Amino acid sequence: MNYPLMISISAIDKVIENMRSLHINCALAAISGGVDSTTAAILTRRIIGDRLRAVFIDTGFMRLNEPEHIKEILRAVLPLEIINASDRFYREMLGLSDAEEKRTRFREVFYTVLSEIAKEYDCDWLVQGTIAPDWIETRGGIKTQHNVLEQVGIDTASKYGFKLIEPLKDLYKDQVRELAKSLGVPSEIVNRQPFPGPGLSIRAVGELTLEKLDVARRATDIVERRLGNMGLSQWFAATWEYDTVPSSELSRVVNGLGDLHVELFSIRATGVKGDARSYGHVALVRGYPVNWDVIYELHKYLATTSDVTHVIYELMGRGVGKYFVSIRAIVTDDFMTADVPRLSREILMDVAEEILSNDNRISSVGFDVTPKPPATIEYE
Ligand code: XMP
Repeated sequence: MNYPLMISISAIDKVIENMRSLHINCALAAISGGVDSTTAAILTRRIIGDRLRAVFIDTGFMRLNEPEHIKEILRAVLPLEIINASDRFYREMLGLSDAEEKRTRFREVFYTVLSEIAKEYDCDWLVQGTIAPDWIETRGGIKTQHNVLEQVGIDTASKYGFKLIEPLKDLYKDQVRELAKSLGVPSEIVNRQPFPGPGLSIRAVGELTLEKLDVARRATDIVERRLGNMGLSQWFAATWEYDTVPSSELSRVVNGLGDLHVELFSIRATGVKGDARSYGHVALVRGYPVNWDVIYELHKYLATTSDVTHVIYELMGRGVGKYFVSIRAIVTDDFMTADVPRLSREILMDVAEEILSNDNRISSVGFDVTPKPPATIEYE
């Protein structure tokens, strides 16, 4: 096999050698359509052939038409079976509000469903696309990433009946992309932006409802379409209730940057402070900055206080509707830190207008101007 230059040959050789030494009758691979899980599965398939069974679990938290689309793209390289488990996830997760509670419940349901499938197929191995930042951040307590199990002391063999194969666990995203290219993974998958395992359940921020999921799904579709091809690393929408209280203290802090005032949302969102996770307020800045560039500086004034993790500038509002939509766009190499690119006001206004005109449940749309740290890329 030819390896990409960036990855040490011995590292991948070791993975392959290790996999060959295992007695694998059947391994199950849960594909999300992202580059990590797909690359892990295709690499394993090269070694164990048809003894790999690849499934796509439809959790009900996927984007518009995502399961069918992924199956179609992978048709030639990885036959995929779609398993619809959305009722199960909705039963267990609707009504939850806390970010970590959503994440841990998601993990429980996800692996319980997988262990049932593994039993049915008589598979005693599970192939996962866990990469280095996943377990570093989970172990560091920044967030519970759904696919990090062994590294946090979960014994999968006794709990779920399968052992884990994690061929990419020491690689970073750009290395995985290199490896994927060398394995012939379709370019749409190689270049696909990351999408978290718990999907829209953590982008429908705060209390999880079917309506909020639907708002998030529709807004995401617009943001992904409109901000694609701009060289971004990740671009998406998140939504929550438009429920705010004014903060005269924070409004005073931005006094001088324009005719601006600050409100705090009732939901909380995750951030990183030092090496630790924080779960703090989301500030909404409304009004007129002295110039457009000022909005990209707002986080320096507002997210320095102990409990503000995300700062959002309001682009456009209409005063009626239950929901707020935040547009998130970042650039990063490793997803451990991230910057907010200086997108033009016209482009963002255009996207905001489309989001508002597409869904009358949305009252207002803003642009998240917070880098990581102090914010995380996601909100939960
Ligand atoms: P945060 O929000 O921690 O995200 O800055 C860093 C990167 O990880 C992705 N992410 C996840 N990926 N399962 C995944 O497979 C998860 O549970 C998960 N949570 C966050 C996020 O989209 C970003 O690219």
